[in-house]
Amino acid sequence: MLGLRFRTTGVMHPLQCVLQAQRSLKWGPLSSVSWLLLRTCRAHSSVPSSSCLSSEGQSSEGVEKDFSSRLAAGPTFQHFLRSASVLQEKPSFPEVEDPPPYLTGDELLGRQRKVYLETYGCQMNVNDTEIAWSILQKSGFLRTSNLQEADVILLVTCSIREKAEQTIWNRLHQLKALKTKRSRSRVPLRIGILGCMAERLKGEILNREKTVDLLAGPDAYRDLPRLLAVVESGQQAANVLLSLDETYADIMPVQTSPSATSAFVSIMRGCDNMCSYCIVPFTRGRERSRPVASILDEVRKLSEQGLKEVTLLGQNVNSFRDNSEIQFNNAVPTNLSRGFTTNYKTKQGGLRFSHLLDQVSRIDPEMRIRFTSPHPKDFPDEVLQLIHERHNICKQIHLPAQSGSNRVLDAMRRGYSREAYVALVHHIRECIPGVSLSSDFITGFCGETEDDHLQTVSLLREVQYNAGFLFAYSMRQKTRAYHRLKDDVPEEVKLRRLEELITVFREEASRANQTSVGCTQLVLVEGFSKRSSTDLCGRNDANLKVIFPDAEVEDVTNSGLKVRAQPGDYVLVKITSASSQTLKGHILCRTTLKDSSMHCLT
Ligand code: 5AD
Ligand code: SF4
Repeated sequence: MLGLRFRTTGVMHPLQCVLQAQRSLKWGPLSSVSWLLLRTCRAHSSVPSSSCLSSEGQSSEGVEKDFSSRLAAGPTFQHFLRSASVLQEKPSFPEVEDPPPYLTGDELLGRQRKVYLETYGCQMNVNDTEIAWSILQKSGFLRTSNLQEADVILLVTCSIREKAEQTIWNRLHQLKALKTKRSRSRVPLRIGILGCMAERLKGEILNREKTVDLLAGPDAYRDLPRLLAVVESGQQAANVLLSLDETYADIMPVQTSPSATSAFVSIMRGCDNMCSYCIVPFTRGRERSRPVASILDEVRKLSEQGLKEVTLLGQNVNSFRDNSEIQFNNAVPTNLSRGFTTNYKTKQGGLRFSHLLDQVSRIDPEMRIRFTSPHPKDFPDEVLQLIHERHNICKQIHLPAQSGSNRVLDAMRRGYSREAYVALVHHIRECIPGVSLSSDFITGFCGETEDDHLQTVSLLREVQYNAGFLFAYSMRQKTRAYHRLKDDVPEEVKLRRLEELITVFREEASRANQTSVGCTQLVLVEGFSKRSSTDLCGRNDANLKVIFPDAEVEDVTNSGLKVRAQPGDYVLVKITSASSQTLKGHILCRTTLKDSSMHCLT
């Protein structure tokens, strides 16, 4: 698999009620982005205090009058500070008996309003969409997949590169026409921006794009029912408060596709690494892990529902550290991968990723376990050993390198040298024979010379990854690189280098995948191939797509029984051809994960 992975993502307007909630973050840059605002129109100097202008400029006097006067007597700064922390303790905010004093319980209910959710960017955003929907569903909203019938449109956004944000701006312009058309209807259309872009741009979006009614940062989804209740009356509302402990541990995400064979389980959020090019620590906040018990609960439920694969999800998934219980907080030092350092003071104690992986993999022997996205610094031997030993942990590791040049790695503040990275690759391959490796690379980072680029090319040749995600550098405000370095590689050079890396990646991945031809592989069936209804499609252990004709085969656990493979079945496939992204073959039999692990597949 080779592709460009997408983490799809003005001046302050006088805000009548801007509530700055500075959390006591020890970390400089984040403290300035931790705020929450509620925008009401009652204090517009040009607007009578008893009436409100909706975001379309329509008078909504009357219906909202009562609401407005309650709002006037409404929240204080202290209330928001309090509610921000209370919300994290109360799992079912929409159903709580004590709604904020300026809203009745009824106003917090969705009143069957139809919500259309659109997701951009990485897998974390897909999971966030499921969390946001779970919260809204409990609050009485309905979901629609038809944009035309939506009462509320929520875009879950990404900020990682400029292009991801541009996609959202373009989408907002399209939605503007839809909103204007609906402005005089009984239920006007409301539009919200969720996730990283809401966090990064905050009030700037509300000012620049009047189409937008609601902003909710990645840690504010519990507040969506309240924000929508405010929006319902024609106000704009926002909560972009970053949290030190929000993990949505108690929210069971609603799986978007009920027939899916696999699910994503969020285990940690945020990032403390502060790579110099990256906006993530600013939009998603500090690293925090979900308690082990709640993760195991969710995986158990998914297993009971018959799902056959879970992918543990997090910005730095293998930096997992559950210190939710006092007894976990011992002084056990952290084992990093050899030759790797951190940009922050080394942490101690807590239940680590190896513990979680061990527990998760014991739940269901027929459930495949994957994880993404890890950081190369957190691969101590105990994690590698576990991946090797457990038949249901996939032998597939994503190992983002970003560059093959020491000079550039240093400027990126990645905390390792090329040599340490290559040594880790060798060590991983020794510990887990046959492991599949993938990576992320950025071309044209500040100061990258032709020689630096050639060193990246040589790293791709040396490691021979099975898959890669390649990006041209996109300067992001607030990052260290923005403040200290010069974005001095011309756009056309960045793109030319990107093309070169794509070509090399394809060649190496094709070569690596060719070694599968003639082998028998275990494939988890996902359904029919998109291109042909006579072919089935699934994924092998390395997460590579495998396509094979649908045919009647024997079931190895039920000798003599002839079956046709269904989504969620494990089958053995003899591989007959390979490209850089796909394998093809023919089906041999239906089997189980456990059974296939006891026979050496060749
Ligand atoms: N420009 C280009 N790519 C970036 N990434 C992160 N920040 C940037 C940026 N500013 C890439 C990294 C990361 C992946 C998720 O996105 O390769 O691993
Ligand atoms: Fe961004 Fe680096 Fe954190 Fe990955 S590890 S999210 S690249 S800061």
